[in-house]
Amino acid sequence: MRVLVTGGAGFIGGHLADRFHKEGFEVRVLDNLDPKVHPSGEPPQFPQGVEFIRGDVTDREAFRYALRDVDVVSHQAAYQDYMPDFSRFLAVNAVGTALLYELIVEDRMKIRKVIVASSQAVYGEGQYVCQEHGPFLPIPRSARQLQRKEWEVSCAQCGQRATASLLIEQHTNPYNQYAVSKLAQEKTALGLGWIHGIPTVALRYSITQGPRQSLFNHYSGICRIFVSRALIGDPLIIYEDGLQTRDFVHIEDIVNANMLVLEQDAANAQAFNVGSGHPTSVIDYARLVREKVGNQVEFLTPGEYRTGDNRHSVSSISKLQALGWSPKRSLSQILDDFLVWVQRNGGIPEQVQDAYLNMKQAGVVLSAGH
Ligand SMILES: NC(=O)c1ccc[n+]([C@@H]2O[C@H](COP(=O)([O-])OP(=O)(O)OC[C@H]3O[C@@H](n4cnc5c(N)ncnc54)[C@H](O)[C@@H]3O)[C@@H](O)[C@H]2O)c1
Repeated sequence: MRVLVTGGAGFIGGHLADRFHKEGFEVRVLDNLDPKVHPSGEPPQFPQGVEFIRGDVTDREAFRYALRDVDVVSHQAAYQDYMPDFSRFLAVNAVGTALLYELIVEDRMKIRKVIVASSQAVYGEGQYVCQEHGPFLPIPRSARQLQRKEWEVSCAQCGQRATASLLIEQHTNPYNQYAVSKLAQEKTALGLGWIHGIPTVALRYSITQGPRQSLFNHYSGICRIFVSRALIGDPLIIYEDGLQTRDFVHIEDIVNANMLVLEQDAANAQAFNVGSGHPTSVIDYARLVREKVGNQVEFLTPGEYRTGDNRHSVSSISKLQALGWSPKRSLSQILDDFLVWVQRNGGIPEQVQDAYLNMKQAGVVLSAGH
């Protein structure tokens, strides 16, 4: 059995490539070594026998070459960032996925399963309930609202503060370029997979963390940014008021979810959330980092926010739990495992600090109340 892992030089794809290799698959990786993720231009070390192809998922010939004699496709490659090069998100994430299906159909490949990495980002600002007007899908908080430091989501009809619900798979509502591209990717895969009889599953990962996550990628930065600042005693800069909540899942739990849906036909043609099921506020995350690093760093809440960010994002995991998966590792374990890995690799490189400055310069991080 041969598996193609696109994005297999990256964080999640790398762990998946290792696991497929351990399970006895012949593993091939297609990855363009995006310089934002791999500034050295070098691929990581793969286990012996893993075949690495440097190539782009938007390049027809490279993708076709990588798909030779493949039984399973684990499609992890994606462009992820907060930067304003909007068209690139759709070109890589949506068009690249359409190309995958185009090649499978054109070359009449017998693919047993395609698993597509989707994202919790497809929910946009989330799913809320107003006490008076019931459930609703909010539009993103406006720049005016954020400038006034009114961080919470309110009901569009009565203006009362609304309560965030756990995100369920039925209701997607993306707005930013990454979120739109991930939903387009997922719809392309599930739709074309269904029509052309290519068993396909989309997994909407929550924020995934653990050893080997890119130290350079601007996206999903809380772990490496807080840890890197705490290690050198710099204050932790917290966006908004720190009470926004997120859902953090350990990389091993993500790998196990992939293995489960690979085997289960009942998962085909559907999207599933893969998260922890628990909210963690950013301030609690910062406290845990401080405790783990053992450094009395200060917390700063200068009233900054990131354009396109949402307030609360915690996925319901009951749909995947019904198929037999459950997350087994806590946030505390995520941080322990990440810190061991960072220390084993000689600490966090200096360039990592630049992500925050880059985002400020690009107007992605803004200050409220000016
Ligand atoms: N890490 C998270 O928290 C998270 C959360 C939700 C969804 N996801 C999704 O999971 C997948 C993997 O994310 P990750 O965290 O491992 O990211 P990552 O940046 O560590 O890895 C992505 C890999 O894809 C490669 N890549 C980028 N563009 C490519 C292209 N055009 N052609 C070929 N390769 C390309 C990069 O070089 C990199 O090695 C992505 O699809 C992402 O959208 C990740």
